[in-house]
Amino acid sequence: MADSTNTLGTSQPRKIKYRKTKASWNPAMQTIPVPGIRRMVNLAATMKDVIHLSIGQPDLPTPPHIIDAYVDALKAGQTGYTMDAGLPELLVALRDYYGKRYDRKLTRDNILITSGATEAMYLALSATAAPGRQFIVTDPSFLLYAPLIRMNGGEVKFIPTRIENNHQLDPDEVIRAMGSRTFAIVLNSPNNPTGAVYPRSTIERLVEECAYRGIQIFSDEVYDHLILDDEEYASVLNCSVDLDNIMCISSFSKTFSMAGLRVGWVISSQATIKSLRRYHMFTTSVANTPAQFAGVAALTGDQQCIRDMVDIYRLRRDRIVDLINQTPHLTGYQPGGAFYSFPALPPHVDGSDVALRMLKETGVCVVPGDAFGEQSTNALRFSFSASTDNIEKAFDRIIPWMAKQPF
Ligand SMILES: Cc1ncc(COP(=O)(O)O)c(C=O)c1O
Repeated sequence: MADSTNTLGTSQPRKIKYRKTKASWNPAMQTIPVPGIRRMVNLAATMKDVIHLSIGQPDLPTPPHIIDAYVDALKAGQTGYTMDAGLPELLVALRDYYGKRYDRKLTRDNILITSGATEAMYLALSATAAPGRQFIVTDPSFLLYAPLIRMNGGEVKFIPTRIENNHQLDPDEVIRAMGSRTFAIVLNSPNNPTGAVYPRSTIERLVEECAYRGIQIFSDEVYDHLILDDEEYASVLNCSVDLDNIMCISSFSKTFSMAGLRVGWVISSQATIKSLRRYHMFTTSVANTPAQFAGVAALTGDQQCIRDMVDIYRLRRDRIVDLINQTPHLTGYQPGGAFYSFPALPPHVDGSDVALRMLKETGVCVVPGDAFGEQSTNALRFSFSASTDNIEKAFDRIIPWMAKQPF
């Protein structure tokens, strides 16, 4: 090896230089799919006169008393970190709110405040997924779950939900799929992207079977208030005897139109929350402080704002269901919650291609089904987080365009 003389005049071996190539990602990054939604939204951004039925967050304004609480907290100097489990006032408000809603005794130690349901889901899945552990997930499902499981070596077993069955989950099918490697199931009711709301009988059956077999349940309940028909909402929290194998995850994002304020939570056994709290300190450490004060105002303030928003979503749901039924080549159904419908094109039609052409040729942006699962390639997700006026304008374009398609 060639020597060089350093500033001290002593002779030392020359340091080996490594040529820097491209950043080399952890192979786990390969589990993160190229998001179909992004491609559509990027294209739409370059176009004029686009109507978005692609949006996954509420379009209705945040109620004013919540905004006031956020601003008041800022003005009062609440700009520091909170306690790691969350703002004590918010933990108490959530304990009381859930206690009353589900007649379930909780303590503050059953709750961890996170940066949205996204962080809660990240903590829950990445802290438990591991090689040899199988997670049952519905197909279609919200796009976060499967990559987070696979990233950590876990295995995903998809259970389909079908349009013929209004995308209801068949508990018998789930139970038949459970085996010795099954570690957990991920539930999401009301569901993104289908809007399906699972009845109490489904949740009870699965909770009971999982408790018997020692299988973990992760229940994503972010749309729990957006129930559009006259039915009682079945949460895992009011269908379970204890919380030992349950993590209930939710947030303020959808119910109170607070998606950008980033506050969510996990409710589980005290032992689980204790471990997640440690992990949370190594991820985001705490959620946004003034937003947590806004959350207290949301929970303790007048709940009429939720009923008003649900009334609006219901009217839009009824209208979009009607319009989908009038659209050639689309098969619809009645979604019972959230703000999505997931109608199907004829089998073997590529939804991704249709969504892209529809955007280019009509200026209406929807999300192709393959963003949500491997068996949903002929579906399209229509969001009715858009005004009735815009929904009607969109279908004025879509219906004649679909009529011309040679499927
Ligand atoms: C099913 C589901 N879970 C979680 C989230 C994320 O919620 P948050 O804004 O609380 O992170 C979304 C957002 O679209 C969702 O649809």
